[in-house]
Amino acid sequence: MAPAERHSSGDGGFRPPPYPYDRLSGLRSLADALPGGVVDCSIGTPFDPPPPEAVRALAKSGAERGYPPSAGNPAYRRAGAEYLARTFGVELEPSSVAACVGTKEMVASTPHYLRLHEPARDTVLYPSVSYPTYAMGARLAGCRAVPVPPSDADGWGLDLEAIDAGDAARALLLWVNSPANPSGGLTDLDAAAAWGRRHGVPVFSDECYVEYTWQGRPRSILETGAEGVVAVHSVSKRSNLAGVRAGFFAGDEALVSYLRDVRQHAGLMVPGPVQAAAAVVWSDDGHVAAQRARYHERLELLAAALTTAGCPTRLPPGSFYLWPAVPPRWADGWSMAEDLAKVAGMLVSPGDLYGRNGAGHVRIAVVQPTERLELVAERLTASGWS
Ligand SMILES: Cc1ncc(COP(=O)(O)O)c(C=O)c1O
Repeated sequence: MAPAERHSSGDGGFRPPPYPYDRLSGLRSLADALPGGVVDCSIGTPFDPPPPEAVRALAKSGAERGYPPSAGNPAYRRAGAEYLARTFGVELEPSSVAACVGTKEMVASTPHYLRLHEPARDTVLYPSVSYPTYAMGARLAGCRAVPVPPSDADGWGLDLEAIDAGDAARALLLWVNSPANPSGGLTDLDAAAAWGRRHGVPVFSDECYVEYTWQGRPRSILETGAEGVVAVHSVSKRSNLAGVRAGFFAGDEALVSYLRDVRQHAGLMVPGPVQAAAAVVWSDDGHVAAQRARYHERLELLAAALTTAGCPTRLPPGSFYLWPAVPPRWADGWSMAEDLAKVAGMLVSPGDLYGRNGAGHVRIAVVQPTERLELVAERLTASGWS
């Protein structure tokens, strides 16, 4: 059986660990000491502006007075269904689409709700190099968090064959994330869906970076059919609207309706004005094309600057993250991050924030304006690293 991530507070009670990004404050001060200040590439929070139509919709919705529908109003759910049809050729009824308050809360809360439904199961399977909230959601539900190893050395893909039969039998769900945070790797969603159906384990596919797919076309797990799978989408990265908190989940009728109902009882609601703004952006692709171009240009700029400075950095198959391996002159991601802060004024995330197997990498989010990344490139050139 694979080792579950276990945590104890000594007396058995839950104590939240330090929030991953709060651990970077020392590095931030180092970077900020340089003339021109810190260039923060540690967190994947959008810097670029959202579409003005979305901001106008927020102000003009007239939806402030009453409680908004927890599942999302008809326009919101229809916009989600139409987005899936347009982008992936997936035809779903709007009733198979429901709102979430951004996807982080959905990732964090779903194991708890699934466990209430299936008390005989207690395990969450998730990629071993991944967004930390998959494992945290398991802990918040009192479940076992069992990491699934990547299928290659860069931390890309999922080695489904490595999942122990005992863990599969206890699994409430398998999380997949393609393109992936932090590695930018793509996962074989056909294989993940087939594995889930074969083992009777629901597969939840976090597709929040799907618009930033650089190799091949964007893919949704729903292209395999809706049975046993749920896709999770967000306006945060797609439309630079992380501040409004809106997303949706869609797929298997029984899973979606169960989660929709339990979430209504829990009082989870996307605010009405936000529902109006999100419906606007799900219906438009032009602003996404502009954002894609910005991120791609920045990935190329910074990958080239790092490579010239002796940190070979490949372009990722997807996402807006660079995930270089730590060159031998540094012991681990923390020491590389420290030198990048001191010399280039760039704050990056040491790879172990995304699981033990990430320790030999750093993650760099190219969210800052291009001219700030040019400043990093100039500082790297001046460093004399090669
Ligand atoms: C893989 C992944 N999933 C989900 C989220 C949460 O996004 P949001 O809650 O803004 O929709 C993030 C945010 O960084 C992420 O990287």
